[in-house]
Amino acid sequence: MKSVPHITYLTINRSGRVRIVVETVLGLTRDILKSIYVGAIQVLTRFAYIEREFPSSISLWARLDVIPRAQHHERHKLSLGKHSLIESLCVVCTWHGDVILQDGASIGIGSIVMGPVSIGEGSACSQNCFISGQSHHYEDVSKNFLRQGVHTSRVIIGKNAWIGANSIILPGVKIGDNSVIGAGSIIIEDVPAYSVAAGNPAKIIKQYDFESKQWKRV
Ligand SMILES: CC(C)(COP(=O)(O)OP(=O)(O)OC[C@H]1O[C@@H](n2cnc3c(N)ncnc32)[C@H](O)[C@@H]1OP(=O)(O)O)[C@@H](O)C(=O)NCCC(=O)NCCS
Repeated sequence: MKSVPHITYLTINRSGRVRIVVETVLGLTRDILKSIYVGAIQVLTRFAYIEREFPSSISLWARLDVIPRAQHHERHKLSLGKHSLIESLCVVCTWHGDVILQDGASIGIGSIVMGPVSIGEGSACSQNCFISGQSHHYEDVSKNFLRQGVHTSRVIIGKNAWIGANSIILPGVKIGDNSVIGAGSIIIEDVPAYSVAAGNPAKIIKQYDFESKQWKRV
């Protein structure tokens, strides 16, 4: 039986191989230059484009899209209160609305926050959350969705709320004070204060009873 070579590279003639090497070197050069540009933007952003109170912490490995990169992006603010925290590998984008972290608010490792979003005092978003106050228009099928603009509706997270890991919070949602969002939940509507919501789409599973001072199943 005839054996088939696994490495297609070896079957290509000399000029083809030269072309591959040149394209690889050009591609790598482009990637390196782009990384330097993005790094410089991140340094500039941290120097001149953020409102923050001391002490607050932003990981050097977080990406802050605060400076508009395209004409249709607008200049909005990223504001951090005292003891607030943006963890490693987070992406925070203010191109379509402010992102405001009140005192003690935090965004966990790998989370993505796209403004307009406000996170109240002492509230914590755990790892890998996606929180967006914006969405693309897609109504006109003759145009790519990227050319149809975005609509925005602020996400408001109250005080002392805990957003479980891998949760998704969609535009316009309000999460009340002291509420808890279960890991992996998708929040498409408001969650009242002192409630636990979980699932996809999330439902209220518990609420705090001030008389008995206990969380009760709903
Ligand atoms: C939401 C949470 C706090 C609730 O904890 P709890 O009060 O002990 O809840 P219970 O275990 O009593 O569960 C109550 C019901 O909700 C369901 N439930 C709990 N968490 C859920 C979740 N994340 N998604 C879907 N359903 C969930 C349970 O299955 C149970 O349903 P059942 O009675 O029909 O079996 C917890 O489940 C959770 O998701 N924690 C987040 C963990 C996390 O993200 N950690 C990051 C560390 S920073």
